[in-house]
Amino acid sequence: MARLDNEIILITGGASGLGFAIVERFLVEGASIAVMDKSEQAIDKLTQKIHDQGYGDKLVTIQGDVRVYQDNETAVARCVDKFGKLDCIIGNAGIWDFSTSLVRLPTEKLDQSFDDLFHTNVKGYLYLAKAALEPLTRSGGSMIFTVSNAGFYPDGGGPLYTATKHAVVGLIRQFAFELAPHIRVNGVAPGAIDTNLRGSEALGQAERVIPGKALSAAVPDLVPVGVMPSPKDYTGAYVFFASREDNIPATGVILNHDGGFGVRGFSRIRGGDKLPKELGIES
Ligand SMILES: NC(=O)c1ccc[n+]([C@@H]2O[C@H](COP(=O)([O-])OP(=O)(O)OC[C@H]3O[C@@H](n4cnc5c(N)ncnc54)[C@H](O)[C@@H]3O)[C@@H](O)[C@H]2O)c1
Repeated sequence: MARLDNEIILITGGASGLGFAIVERFLVEGASIAVMDKSEQAIDKLTQKIHDQGYGDKLVTIQGDVRVYQDNETAVARCVDKFGKLDCIIGNAGIWDFSTSLVRLPTEKLDQSFDDLFHTNVKGYLYLAKAALEPLTRSGGSMIFTVSNAGFYPDGGGPLYTATKHAVVGLIRQFAFELAPHIRVNGVAPGAIDTNLRGSEALGQAERVIPGKALSAAVPDLVPVGVMPSPKDYTGAYVFFASREDNIPATGVILNHDGGFGVRGFSRIRGGDKLPKELGIES
């Protein structure tokens, strides 16, 4: 028996990047999954790939915008119609600000860029949680939200992105309190990933994509683990939080799943580069 057999999941932003990898992993783990994403093109690609993998009957897709409450309600309703219940929501759709600093944020774009970031990254999660309350209470289910290293540390974005991800930490803690003991609420805070992450329309970043390859080359000098994990490498954390078998105790927990941002050294990124040599394991 797989770990998520008979579990029904709804994920936002599941048609690309990290979300896509979560969808593939959850299907392998036995779940059925509803994906809401605003990109029709990305949904078509996902649908084709999942059908080719033989999981077509376990997938439902909804084209919608997380910033619109009605779209979140529709996604929940379509999921429950198709699969009969809802066990877990994963709030994951997000955009970045390409590290636009306070100095560089154009004054005339402040209102709109703030709304772009906060409406997608924070209001989208709030709407999803609200829309899913009843079915999750019925199923005794859980919520998982994608945070980021930017939810804990500076320099994972500019002030807008960093503030949205700190706000998500607050949502998770407050939801976990308010919804206990019926719904567990947890978060995963990944570090840099090579995905299609885009940015704020107001800042002209709607079609700009995170420079994954450049980040990947720089990561050994940025994080203790020394490699940039793939989207797939992050998916186990989501399985763990969604699993009723493995995870009854956790609520209000956010896993810093970022390659070790919190244990970077003062004089160098990590202390163990010479460890095998010091132990005589290699010359
Ligand atoms: N890529 C990174 O380095 C990184 C690091 C830490 C955290 N994250 C977080 O991971 C999550 C997933 O991002 P990703 O990197 O996989 O990017 P991605 O762009 O590859 O995937 C995000 C998906 O969300 C969808 N989306 C965006 N806005 C939407 C909206 N308003 N309504 C519905 N769908 C919308 C996009 O169409 C896309 O399919 C985000 O919350 C992001 O902040 C990313």
